[in-house]
Amino acid sequence: MKQLKFTDFVFFLFFFTESLTLPTKPQDVDDSGITQKFIEENIEYITIIAFAQYVQEATFEDVEILVKDMVEYKDRCVANKTLPECFKLPNNALQEKIFAMEGLPQKHNLSHCCSKVDFERRSCFFFNKKADVAFLPPFPTLDPEEKCQAFKNSRKSFLNRYVYEVARRNPFVFAPTLLSVAARFEEVAGACCEEQHKATCFQTRAAPVIQYLKAFSSYQKNVCGAYLKFGTKVLNFINIAVLSQKFPKIEFKELTSLIEDVSSKYDGCCEGDVVQCVRDTSKVMNHICSKQGSISSKIQECCEKKIPERGECIINSNKDDRPEDLREAKFTDSETLCQERDTDPDNFFAEFTYEYSRNHPDLSTPELLRIAHVYKDVLSNCCNTQNPPGCYRRAKDKFNETTEKSHKIVQRECEHFQLWGKDGVKYYYLIRLTKTAPQLSTEELISLGEKMAMALATCCTLSEEFACVDNLVDLVLGELCGINENRTINPAVDHCCKTNFAFRRHCFEGLKADETYVPPTTTKDLFTFNADLCQAQNEELQRKKDRVLVDLARRRELAEEELRAWLAGLAERCCSAGEPALWGGSQNWQLKPDCLRNIKEKASKLSGPDRRETPESLNVDRKKRGNCSGFGVHSPQ
Ligand SMILES: *[C@@H]1O[C@H](CO)[C@@H](O)[C@H](O)[C@H]1NC(C)=O
Ligand SMILES: *[C@@H]1O[C@H](CO)[C@@H](O)[C@H](O)[C@H]1NC(C)=O
Ligand SMILES: *[C@@H]1O[C@H](CO)[C@@H](O)[C@H](O)[C@H]1NC(C)=O
Ligand SMILES: *[C@@H]1O[C@H](CO)[C@@H](O)[C@H](O)[C@H]1NC(C)=O
Repeated sequence: MKQLKFTDFVFFLFFFTESLTLPTKPQDVDDSGITQKFIEENIEYITIIAFAQYVQEATFEDVEILVKDMVEYKDRCVANKTLPECFKLPNNALQEKIFAMEGLPQKHNLSHCCSKVDFERRSCFFFNKKADVAFLPPFPTLDPEEKCQAFKNSRKSFLNRYVYEVARRNPFVFAPTLLSVAARFEEVAGACCEEQHKATCFQTRAAPVIQYLKAFSSYQKNVCGAYLKFGTKVLNFINIAVLSQKFPKIEFKELTSLIEDVSSKYDGCCEGDVVQCVRDTSKVMNHICSKQGSISSKIQECCEKKIPERGECIINSNKDDRPEDLREAKFTDSETLCQERDTDPDNFFAEFTYEYSRNHPDLSTPELLRIAHVYKDVLSNCCNTQNPPGCYRRAKDKFNETTEKSHKIVQRECEHFQLWGKDGVKYYYLIRLTKTAPQLSTEELISLGEKMAMALATCCTLSEEFACVDNLVDLVLGELCGINENRTINPAVDHCCKTNFAFRRHCFEGLKADETYVPPTTTKDLFTFNADLCQAQNEELQRKKDRVLVDLARRRELAEEELRAWLAGLAERCCSAGEPALWGGSQNWQLKPDCLRNIKEKASKLSGPDRRETPESLNVDRKKRGNCSGFGVHSPQ
């Protein structure tokens, strides 16, 4: 995150900041006043979010102490804004209060941050965030009656607790999104607690809220990861592509000024400075809403909403209709492109990306960035030739080549999905991911595999299939590559993660099994199935199957196809026949007595010092597998 930017704000007053920036139009005073009021009113949530995201291990009791402290602080500053302590940046004030909590920094390994100041300290908090939250207990699931009792007793403390539990498990999601989620969850709880069938109501009405949270969290994490690894330029290009598609009517000049606001929002939001993030987001939304006429016709209703719904609504709004004045051709036909490029390369390629993006609403963000990259390469080559215009006129073919390659990848992915179903593609990706990144933990591989399958299940039937798949699968790769760290997984994966943001997908597509990896030699915990193997719809059982598959895939001797076949056969060998829904819904399945013994023998052979199993010796009965179409795992023949 940029250092300079923050020192500019040293004299920011906690609760009266934006008014210090001397707004000239009454509109601005009003908007910043509203944001200010929102921050003051939501100081509890804001404190909870910041604290729970920075120190995910902290208990709710710790959080309550800090909330009390911050509320008093706010009250003092509202009463007398000239108190010396009120001149601090809000996030600094909060971090100092965390350090001052007795025993807390020692307990949660934050002491090394306490001795740092300014940028270093903020980075220290940021790097302390853990993307992998497996160390936390599962999200607490209360009985609906209990939940509603708690909600009725104290709406506020119930929701505070909810925000705490969500925030610590989503340490990178931006505060306005979490505040929106909290507001929506409050609505759900309010409605469902009046219902007779509370459990069903919570299930159906909370699901979209969770989906929403996951989608936003995933996108925000990915952009922050890209920003950290590739810097401001890539961040700007991502935002140009996204905003030009959404607002194709916007003039390039207007877009440039909007991009400045949008990109600088990511400083505070990615870093976890909650107050700054809320302010910057409001600033962006004010900018957009105050210029609706020249930006978009689709956001009027959104702009009438309040913070934080207004921002989330705009982000979710549909793409505006394409205007007539598309000028994409000038980037391949003009005679003077090389000179134009040399005058101001950043601006030149920004404008190209803008034109191409507004003209291609059907492409994904990574694809638009790929095209920009290809264009840059084309000009680099062509401007060195005798006849540049003759050379770069053919740039379109190059764009087409890249797009076709990406289309093919997506087509293949969706074919897999049609062929094998959601569980089937999950197994496929579990194996692929394990082969390419066997160093990752089993839990992480399962989580990534599930997200891949979810992406295909979400997108493969849509008319915007290509953009949807390419966007979502790229988010999964972004997660694999790490958000607040440059991970070292293995040389091939690391190379794909850091070389080129736009071509990350193409790079991963070309990866083979990691040859440097030495598989573990023990079979400990490899087969922990018991009689519930054949029973139904049990998430824990599903997990066990996933774990077996990942553990097996780590052993290099097994090819992907064998593995999936083996897993399919496993079910058949172990469960006596019944309904076709293997592993799935049927209760009729029973474990064959000798089955577990056979599995264990097989496993010890697989993982012994000389593991040379062939598909035949794995005893895969391919004919028999024909009856278990419900299982969804078929190896490509
Ligand atoms: C506000 O705080 C300043 C600085 O401590 C002090 O000088 C001033 O008297 C206070 N004003 C009020 C109204 O308490
Ligand atoms: C504490 O943080 C330091 C610095 O980030 C790290 O090297 C160390 O492994 C951490 N210790 C624990 C127990 O997490
Ligand atoms: C990761 O790598 C990028 C580019 O090489 C660098 O700018 C950034 O500071 C690195 N981040 C960390 C946390 O080391
Ligand atoms: C590539 O170009 C050809 C000919 O212009 C066109 O028919 C085809 O649809 C293009 N492919 C893509 C993926 O845009």
